[in-house]
Amino acid sequence: MILPIYTYGNAVLRKHAEEISSDYPDLKKLIDDMYETMYHADGVGLAAPQVGLPIRMLVIGLDALAEDNPELAKFKTVMINPVMLEMSEEEVEGNEGCLSIPGISEKVYRAEWIKIKYYDADFNEHIEEFEDFIARVIQHEYDHLEGSLFTDHVNPLRRQMIKTKLNNIAKGKVQCDYKIK
Ligand code: NI
Repeated sequence: MILPIYTYGNAVLRKHAEEISSDYPDLKKLIDDMYETMYHADGVGLAAPQVGLPIRMLVIGLDALAEDNPELAKFKTVMINPVMLEMSEEEVEGNEGCLSIPGISEKVYRAEWIKIKYYDADFNEHIEEFEDFIARVIQHEYDHLEGSLFTDHVNPLRRQMIKTKLNNIAKGKVQCDYKIK
């Protein structure tokens, strides 16, 4: 089931999301719905707050990169209750967008690699390291669980320039080809 995506201005995007337990109701269905919602909107990642749920869960699927990078496109994961264990001091700049902030894309600095602990859909614990693009996507989605958005990381000058656009999204003056709330 495709869920509406909550856009900039919705309070749920600014909440610190809560951990969930393995008996969270209909967890597998929610994961499926989040994937369906993300793929339908041509996204590469989606965090639960973006579908209105302030819980610590995110999905990532890089199928959209199949043409440019078939190897990377195979990457698909769900992370439940993730905890960032380490981040490299070295940061790299890259372009980001967000399904909750339609029509805006900006350069953002992110740690080049990360070490993260998370639980999969069966609540098995994993500790893994990621780098480059995947590390960037995870950091972006992880931020959603902390109530932070990529536009918070944009340099002050650029942030000033996108302020009107952000305000328009908050007022509902935005068009996109997927269902939003
Ligand atoms: Ni996002």
